[in-house]
Amino acid sequence: MNLETVSLPLGERAYDILIGDGLLDEAGARIAPLLPRPRTVVVTDANVAAAHGERFAASLRAAGLDTDIVVLEPGEATKSFAELERLTGRLLDLGVERKDAVIALGGGVIGDLVGFASAILRRGCRFVQVPTTLLAQVDSAVGGKTAINAAQGKNLIGAFHQPALVLADVGALSSLPARELRAGYAEVVKYGLIGDADFFAWLEANGARVLAGDPAARIAAVKTSCAAKAAIVAADEREQGARALLNLGHTFGHALEAVYGYGGALLHGEGVAVGTALAFDYSAHLGLCRPAAADRVRAHLSACGLPASIAALPGGPAYDADTLLTLMMQDKKVEQNRLTLILARDVGEAFVEKAVDAGDVRTFLATQIQQRSGARPAAPPASRRNHP
Ligand code: GLY
Repeated sequence: MNLETVSLPLGERAYDILIGDGLLDEAGARIAPLLPRPRTVVVTDANVAAAHGERFAASLRAAGLDTDIVVLEPGEATKSFAELERLTGRLLDLGVERKDAVIALGGGVIGDLVGFASAILRRGCRFVQVPTTLLAQVDSAVGGKTAINAAQGKNLIGAFHQPALVLADVGALSSLPARELRAGYAEVVKYGLIGDADFFAWLEANGARVLAGDPAARIAAVKTSCAAKAAIVAADEREQGARALLNLGHTFGHALEAVYGYGGALLHGEGVAVGTALAFDYSAHLGLCRPAAADRVRAHLSACGLPASIAALPGGPAYDADTLLTLMMQDKKVEQNRLTLILARDVGEAFVEKAVDAGDVRTFLATQIQQRSGARPAAPPASRRNHP
């Protein structure tokens, strides 16, 4: 197997991210050496269980690992206090000890919930991330952010808890709906735009291969993304500074997601795609980067079938610039009521801007919204707010 390894050097919390095609079959052999006793519990959702559950469990059992499987409902609603209570109770009933492996098999919802359950179970259990979506493979499964949602917003209750291993099988991406795959690709593009112009150029040339299912292109894209994330997380594990760069496009994007309501009308990655284009457009509006750089970003996102402007979004609810700005002010990067944005001087040259003029952002957003065909009067802000 063409296997790539990215290491995350975090001292006693260091771990490897393995990337390959067919890794699900090797999971047992990769996980068993980490464990003082051969005990694992796999937590997954019903969709992933149907696609990969038996094969994954067979791999664990073939390596001599004693395994139970807990299957949860798919969807964002699973990241709740009620599910956390049920899951931690189930793990305790199953006799999970601190050094056993709780394995998160699935996308971002499963990874975030299982990671948080592992963080608090017996004050911290070993856990392994086996991400099966592109978004989880390049972002949420790496770096130790774990969370559930609160009534007040997404990801508001959580902990930093690093996995002991990440196994990213690009073969698992073949069972993803095309729209979900494209949405995850927005997070891949992000890494080129943050700090690696060569990677962005590579994506312009090879993004279609990544989306079409070429295993070598997928491995290369996931590996480069994970390496970029690992470097940032190694330098700033708890997001005191540079880790905020990983939120490129997310402050605009989360506000749009909140407006659209988390029901699938706008996927997270689609919000990030529009948000990324807006971050470059706003940088150009401020004279920080050339308009041609923003055009290039929009062109690539659009070529990959992603929305790259507010005008490109589906009908959806009515909103105005104040609605979006109010939602943007819920961002966790807000300090002393000041908005922080990730802006860019060029492709591959993003930076954290803390002195953002909210009034100017409102004016910019109003112009963007005016370009939306059939714009309607504003609705009040969505009650559920998003937090990266
Ligand atoms: N997804 C952003 C981060 O892990 O910091």
